[in-house]
Amino acid sequence: MNNFQIKTFEQYQQVYKRSVEDPEGFWGDIASTFTWRKKWNTTLEWNFEEPDVKWFKGGKLNITENCLDRHLKTRGNKLALIWEPNDPKERFVRFTYRELHERVCQFANVLKKNGVQKGDRVCIYMPMIPELAFAVLACARIGAIHSVIFAGFSAVAMADRINDAGAKMVLTSDGLNRGSKQIPVKRVVDEALESCPSVEKVIVVERLGWAVNMVEGRDVWYHDEVQGVSKECPAEEMDAEDMLFILYTSGSTGKPKGVVHTCGGYMVYAQYTFMNVFQYEESDVYWCTADIGWITGHTYLLYGPLLSGATTLMFEGVPTYPDMGRFWQVCDKFGVSIFYTAPTAIRSLMSGDIDDVLSYSLDSLKVLGSVGEPINEEAWHWYHTHVGKERCPLVDTWWQTETGGIMISSLANVTPTKPAHAAFPLPGIQPILVNSDGTEITENEVEGHLCMKFPWPGIIRTTYGDHERCRLSYFSTYKGLYFTGDGAKRDENGLYRIIGRVDDVINVSGHRFGTAEIEEAINHNQHVVESAVVGYPHDLKGQGIYAFVICKEKPEREDYLRAEIIETVVEKIGKIAKPDKIQIVSGLPKTRSGKIMRRILRKVAEGDTSNLGDTTTLLDPDVVDEIKAGAL
Ligand code: WT7
Repeated sequence: MNNFQIKTFEQYQQVYKRSVEDPEGFWGDIASTFTWRKKWNTTLEWNFEEPDVKWFKGGKLNITENCLDRHLKTRGNKLALIWEPNDPKERFVRFTYRELHERVCQFANVLKKNGVQKGDRVCIYMPMIPELAFAVLACARIGAIHSVIFAGFSAVAMADRINDAGAKMVLTSDGLNRGSKQIPVKRVVDEALESCPSVEKVIVVERLGWAVNMVEGRDVWYHDEVQGVSKECPAEEMDAEDMLFILYTSGSTGKPKGVVHTCGGYMVYAQYTFMNVFQYEESDVYWCTADIGWITGHTYLLYGPLLSGATTLMFEGVPTYPDMGRFWQVCDKFGVSIFYTAPTAIRSLMSGDIDDVLSYSLDSLKVLGSVGEPINEEAWHWYHTHVGKERCPLVDTWWQTETGGIMISSLANVTPTKPAHAAFPLPGIQPILVNSDGTEITENEVEGHLCMKFPWPGIIRTTYGDHERCRLSYFSTYKGLYFTGDGAKRDENGLYRIIGRVDDVINVSGHRFGTAEIEEAINHNQHVVESAVVGYPHDLKGQGIYAFVICKEKPEREDYLRAEIIETVVEKIGKIAKPDKIQIVSGLPKTRSGKIMRRILRKVAEGDTSNLGDTTTLLDPDVVDEIKAGAL
């Protein structure tokens, strides 16, 4: 199974070359190492106009047979999942591949018993507990399409996603632990379901032992349902291009869209990238700190590691509880050898006492990873020096919900790393930089919009229920190309450095929000007439949220109003989208055609008002002076 792991830089160059010259042969060889019920007929059919991308057409498989069943013979007693609870005093739990297989099959049978069939959409709104992992895989086992919603989203945000997907069932828990706090998860679900007619059943996993409201005929406890249920469940045979899951993510316009990934290509891409980027070896203990509610948790906490037969660690808590050393304590406790986290976590831990890291040995670590946003050089060096002891390669992995897996990254110990650079594209990935008019920039030491000119197996297939939106969002900006929404630089040696979004998407602590989405939430507040949101550099979060707000009348107490606006955003989206700064203004800088000049607002938010550029086309240039004067 290991024969597609690249071991030297020369080999990387050869493999890369082949992957471009003969992509079908390249991916076909990798795909052949998986368990298929029936081999595919055509390796790839594609066009980026519609778009229409099909990998391994005619192939039949089930991803959970590849994650679980195929390991039972040789790895049945190997640890598949280690679960570390929020409270270090609570006992951790471990599952071997055999045990995980049983739990997943049992959960799958519970789903079936409650009416879930192949093709049904199941919404999962759960904390980071083992049942979340079982639930995701159980859906895949029976061909139900999982749509995991991060348990920090509000009831309104959940309802939007449930309704968009037409989910039939919700899987949730009574409550969740987050550091010193406990949050009543089921109550949020109940509120959401007031406006979700498609949901017939709710299965509730007990985590806190809280008494919760159970709706007769709709809600059942998992621990009741699982009584006497078989631990065997044959896997549903899926077509390579059947949907595996939907995951909602924000774009520059409108409501979040449901990114769709399919069974065959996603599987091949998840394992290939996992094994190569982290240079995974059989004895590794691997820890990805992402929540399963995000794509990183899907691909690199669950699917990628399990496909590879790895031991994957799942952590319920937060990096700062009970103290700033928690991550490192957990690394030592389980002998973690590969550690994958986000720059925002590193930056928050950097601000603590250095002894919180230095008091742990971290001897087991071999490889470090970073994901979700650009990692600044200071954070890169801190992570590399104090965590990796300058011994562990640090791979900066660039990718997106839409790409399914890592696209540009060093391969640990194999290809060069450079601080703040994602470096080289993975085999099979053909990035290009284009000018704003779409012409390709071929030389090095340049900057441009990052696009892909050829499909890879993990590419987004559609946006759920609205294929045109997929086309418009990713395939229409530059003809014949997939547009990432990111700007990037290529250095003199061809290494890529991701600069950040060039569209109206902001990245707050590695979480994506559309500015339009936050504006829409703010505008729901009864006092608000109009708003404009921009991102600005933030020491901990990468980007902070800066909102300019026009009110119906001048508020008596601005602080009250601000608190109320924040409340509205929390209600519509969730705490993670809270604006950091709210400036009350009497007008916004608009062109004569009514378009907000965000360029000016961004400058003000950055605190750089020395050169605002040309403001002569503004309808009311005076408003700029007011905004400058009131900047926060
Ligand atoms: C956006 C995708 C990929 C999983 C987590 C985020 C930014 C992601 C990096 C990186 C610089 C990065 C990009 C991208 N991003 N990784 N290593 N360096 N920027 O997934 O929520 O879909 O967001 O995150 O701007 O477009 P996502």
